[in-house]
Amino acid sequence: MFDGIYKNRRVLVSGHTGFKGSWLCKWLNNLGAEVYGYSLLPNTEPNHFDLSNPSVNSCINNIIDFNSVKKFVTKSEPEIIFHLAAQPSVLKSYEDPIETFNTNIIGTTNFLEVARYSPSVKAIIIVTTDKCYKNKEWVYGYRENDELGGHDPYSASKACAELVTDSFRKSFTNKKNNKLLIASARAGNVLGGGDWTNDRIFKDIAIAISKNKKLSLRNPNSVRPWQHVLEPLSGYLLLGQLLYQDKKEYAKPWNFGPSLSSNITVRELVDIVKNRWNHIEVEYDSPKNEETKNLVLDSSKAYNKLKWKPVWGIDYTINYTIDWYKNYYEKNIVKTEEQINKFTEDAVKSKIIWT
Ligand SMILES: NC(=O)c1ccc[n+]([C@@H]2O[C@H](COP(=O)([O-])OP(=O)(O)OC[C@H]3O[C@@H](n4cnc5c(N)ncnc54)[C@H](O)[C@@H]3O)[C@@H](O)[C@H]2O)c1
Repeated sequence: MFDGIYKNRRVLVSGHTGFKGSWLCKWLNNLGAEVYGYSLLPNTEPNHFDLSNPSVNSCINNIIDFNSVKKFVTKSEPEIIFHLAAQPSVLKSYEDPIETFNTNIIGTTNFLEVARYSPSVKAIIIVTTDKCYKNKEWVYGYRENDELGGHDPYSASKACAELVTDSFRKSFTNKKNNKLLIASARAGNVLGGGDWTNDRIFKDIAIAISKNKKLSLRNPNSVRPWQHVLEPLSGYLLLGQLLYQDKKEYAKPWNFGPSLSSNITVRELVDIVKNRWNHIEVEYDSPKNEETKNLVLDSSKAYNKLKWKPVWGIDYTINYTIDWYKNYYEKNIVKTEEQINKFTEDAVKSKIIWT
């Protein structure tokens, strides 16, 4: 897997206590990496970090504290950094734009600046989002060279994080003797077990079904690029591998979206889950703030240049997500490790590049 480069490698994940970060740490554990994490404490109960219990040397502190980030990186000497820590909610960004801009822009800048001076770091992957593109309500997908922008503070903060990343890459890494390579990764709306963050759709569905409650949904006709959490993580890990191997041509922004058939509406997603799991009563709320209707990622660049592609389509993604929550709510079983193994087995069968 990934050319074996993660075995015994010192890897730092910021945002390790979050949904994507904790899945990434579990996968890195499987790959034999020595994992370091920098985040705040998990902010939901239950949460995937505590349930999946990855083996991580943790520092719990704010990423806007430059000296603390510097101290931790200096002490842990990572060779690869995955920067995922962020304020990731559009709705919360309307409530607290200052925290959103500080965390997502200054926090990202801090990690890049520390990586620039660190003698150990060879690769840093900055995780942003599909929402970093200026939304033009296109029915076709955004590409890496499309205009950045953002109406809501979250999207704008991630577009800014992309600009900061690009500036660091151009200003500091094109020099002779430079050993640091920087890439950014833009992924779609992730599904998968163990996400109890506010405003995440599957959490609301899982709670409504398991506790026999009514499901309240906004934006039923919005189209999103749904994908299993392991899909973008496979893209981040592949980028980490290639940058670590000093392949400078990959130090760029990359989209890691699902195939076109996975771009379905919120209502279609809920209907599939209702058919496969259990009936729920749904009421549709009108949204309080503006959110994009159409959002599709074009990942042709990753498909062609990295030879990366998704392992599971929308069907498997929904089935495995239902399976995770069902097992948790009905039997108190956490399926994370089993699903990582299944995902990698399926990737091997499909001869996916990173296997
Ligand atoms: N979940 C999605 O659908 C999705 C889609 C596209 C991009 N992303 C991006 O992926 C990354 C991870 O998202 P997630 O869904 O796992 O979110 P999450 O809320 O589950 O996790 C966020 C993590 O960041 C940490 N964090 C937040 N503010 C911090 C601060 N000020 N200092 C230190 N740590 C802080 C939290 O402690 C947590 O570990 C984010 O950058 C997000 O923007 C997520």
